[in-house]
Amino acid sequence: MATYKIAVIGGDGTGPEVTVEAIKVMDAAADKFGFKVDKTEFDFGGERYKRTGETLPDSGVEELRKFDAILLGAIGHPDVKPGILEKGILLSARFELDQYINLRPVRLYPGVETPLKDKGPEEIDYVVVRENTGDLYTGAGGFTLKGTPHETAIQTAMYTRFQVDRCLKYAFEYARKYGKKARGKGKENTLGLVGKTNVLTFVYDLWERAFHEMGQNEYPEIRRDYYHVDATCMWMIKNPEWFDVLVTGNMFGDIITDLGAITQGGMGIAAGGNINPEGVSMFEPIGGSAPKYTGQGVINPLAAICAMQMMLQTLGEETAAEKIEEAVKTVTATKLKSLAAGRMGYSTSQVGDLVADLVAQ
Ligand code: IPM
Ligand code: MN
Repeated sequence: MATYKIAVIGGDGTGPEVTVEAIKVMDAAADKFGFKVDKTEFDFGGERYKRTGETLPDSGVEELRKFDAILLGAIGHPDVKPGILEKGILLSARFELDQYINLRPVRLYPGVETPLKDKGPEEIDYVVVRENTGDLYTGAGGFTLKGTPHETAIQTAMYTRFQVDRCLKYAFEYARKYGKKARGKGKENTLGLVGKTNVLTFVYDLWERAFHEMGQNEYPEIRRDYYHVDATCMWMIKNPEWFDVLVTGNMFGDIITDLGAITQGGMGIAAGGNINPEGVSMFEPIGGSAPKYTGQGVINPLAAICAMQMMLQTLGEETAAEKIEEAVKTVTATKLKSLAAGRMGYSTSQVGDLVADLVAQ
């Protein structure tokens, strides 16, 4: 029987409570589908930082390397200056573990309210593959004459061909396996590159050349589209049904996936995976630590459950992952009044129970 070693970082605020529900559902799936999960908890987060001054120590990274995957609740503490924990834990894990893909589905589940007029689950059903290690996130840059009227600040968007190629390869493979044709939802699998070739004539020129080269040579059956990022923001609202799999750089990917998340019902449901296809991946609900709801049992655990679902899919437990997704859909369609904290009509742990019970059936 397959046994997966999972590192669990509950983190800050409501992170630990939603993680408990994700684990509840994972355990139900393990029983039902015949695999084992061996969990180890880590206390990285704001409280530990306040106590010890440590965010994610080198020894912690080395520990995390030994796992099959990492499940993360949330990072962000009201007493800690913004940026310290995000950079010190979240970005640090992504970079140190070379999680070069940030996979973010934008999928509206039945019964969930979207701000998009006349759009439903049929129309809002695509995935963003965000490159997760390069771009403006590398920290290349600096100040000169800091603090004077002539101060300059430079922050550089950087991409190597290697980074672009490995991300594109993942995106093409993903489109082949999970594109709309592969899922029986369309007549072709499509990969759309989101860039800004009209202005960022170096970085997105590199992306565009690499995209077409790889597509032509290795994935000729996958349809290729190109969109400027600003236009993408319009189409995500007006015609989200055009999209299947999108691939883009780190900064644009960060921005458009928040837009995507709100179209799928917001932070109560949006999940993502920081994936190293050759190493250790980390799965997280996209929403923050929601300090004001901490400990009240009102926060929605579905995003954490969906993150765990992506984790199982990535580990190869496809049948279990499908069952969990179906269970989540049933819960949104037939049970929850709203996805918003305190307005679900159920407590955090009751929502976990609803999903777990359906998975066990
Ligand atoms: C995200 C977040 C992070 C990012 C922050 C918290 C560093 O916005 O996961 O999208 O910019 O990647
Ligand atoms: Mn973001």
